[in-house]
Amino acid sequence: MIIGSKKIYYKNLSSTNTYCASLQKKGKLQEGTIIHTNFQTAGRGQMGNTWESETDKNLLFSIILYPFSIKAQNQFIISKTISLGICDFLERYLRNIFIKWPNDIYINNDKIAGILFENSLIQDEIEYAIAGIGLNVNQEKFISNAPNPTSLKILTGISFDLNDILSVLSKDLDNRYEQLKYDRISQIGNEYISHLYRYNQWSEYKDSKGIFDGRILSVTDAGRLQIEDRSGRIYEYGFKEVDFL
Ligand code: BTN
Repeated sequence: MIIGSKKIYYKNLSSTNTYCASLQKKGKLQEGTIIHTNFQTAGRGQMGNTWESETDKNLLFSIILYPFSIKAQNQFIISKTISLGICDFLERYLRNIFIKWPNDIYINNDKIAGILFENSLIQDEIEYAIAGIGLNVNQEKFISNAPNPTSLKILTGISFDLNDILSVLSKDLDNRYEQLKYDRISQIGNEYISHLYRYNQWSEYKDSKGIFDGRILSVTDAGRLQIEDRSGRIYEYGFKEVDFL
């Protein structure tokens, strides 16, 4: 076992990602160590957003990884791996779990989990990767302007024990990470695509040129989203270069 081989808990922290990075700088953390908390005073989301989480209600944790065999230009495979581990876990309880590119976890059209990756690179090598995961578990009301939050409690009516589900989730994440370590990259790639939200479905998107009808064809190894428009032209987007309407 790598992921979850060691767990460090704090009642509250500013952000598990920030704290994990500061511990990493002081001395190398054992690979797979999980830093978890029940409240963050400055929980961070993607693109400088904040991450809302009521005290004692949700899973908030970061994992330190040393995926040395992965080149920096292929680092998106780590995102695919971790996203799939969360899907495996959720599929124990629910159906219709999707990964909204790049790495939001959706149930139908609602977001149940977010992941903030912070990777440190030395030239074209990954020095370390921090995967920060926020999974909405027992929270029933969300007050931020996040568009479509949901939680396990909202969807199942069940209250979950946070420590129990952290153990199960960390095993599911570890199984996927083993797949990555043993080089089953094409399997991970195929399963990522089979979970991809709106894959191959005609839908509306908006890019710098305007609104268009498109369908998702693929995600490149570098993590860029490929969308085909109605005229058959294929466009590639980086994060935040295209909106899902
Ligand atoms: C997103 O915007 O979707 C990513 C959200 C990531 C939130 C998690 S909660 C644990 C970890 N610590 C943080 O400050 N952020 C991540």
